[in-house]
Amino acid sequence: MDTIAAFHYDGTAWVRPHELTLSPFDLSVLRGFGVFDFLRTYHNIPYKLPQHIKRLENSARQLGITLPYSLKRIEELVLEGIKKNSFPETNIRIVATGGVTLDGITPGKPSFFILCTPAHDYPDDFYTSGVSVATKEFLRAIPAAKSLNYLSAVVELAEAKKQGAVEVVYRDGTGKISEGTTSNIFFVIGGKLVTPNIEGILVGITRGVVISIAQKLDIPVVETDVYYSQIPLFDEVFLTASNKEVMPVVKMDGKVVRNGNVGPVSHRIITEFRRITQG
Ligand SMILES: Cc1ncc(COP(=O)(O)O)c(C=O)c1O
Repeated sequence: MDTIAAFHYDGTAWVRPHELTLSPFDLSVLRGFGVFDFLRTYHNIPYKLPQHIKRLENSARQLGITLPYSLKRIEELVLEGIKKNSFPETNIRIVATGGVTLDGITPGKPSFFILCTPAHDYPDDFYTSGVSVATKEFLRAIPAAKSLNYLSAVVELAEAKKQGAVEVVYRDGTGKISEGTTSNIFFVIGGKLVTPNIEGILVGITRGVVISIAQKLDIPVVETDVYYSQIPLFDEVFLTASNKEVMPVVKMDGKVVRNGNVGPVSHRIITEFRRITQG
């Protein structure tokens, strides 16, 4: 992550990176306890900001964390941060931790940060040629919350990257596919766009945008269980996330999806997503 001369909000003021502080007694350090949300700008306007802040509030509620500011104030602070930094495009992380604990387990007053860094796009060929993903049996704790605990993501991604994969997709013991470490997943099966239903996943904001795009393009959308054993039936696969946008997948665990090319449905959705966000 960039450590350039950015301004970040530390809960009371905009400060430089070297001025940010967090107690080692904060539950986020001792237990990985806290929540965050991540979004980016297009033309330096935060994309789907109210939805991201609403999801942050929902994540916090699920962990029993009370956000120190109203949603409206957080919105204002995010806009302030974008303006203050004036990067070409900005990545924004809004973080609320468990706070300093006295006994090592009971939450205290949340620490709050807004971190602003320059947004960078993935290489073009990820979108034109597609990417490889690995899969792993795993279920995130409290899946509907975007908690600070990405232990499995960090460990599995480091391993998968060595094999040339850009994402790890989680499945359960029955082979049911849920989501990527930091993305949602869609499949094209027999002309329909299929995606795991919302139980057991983080409800991605980009996922919602893609479902609306598909509906607008008259592509039928089905939210249902999808299994690893169905790989031979997948005509197309893609990931969605605020940073990855709509990223086509052509290989899963070394198995080529259909003919290994980015398919027409993915192509239409990528084109429309770009028209909306960058047009
Ligand atoms: C576990 C998980 N699922 C899905 C997503 C995608 O969500 P969004 O489209 O809101 O970025 C993320 C984003 O980081 C994530 O961490």
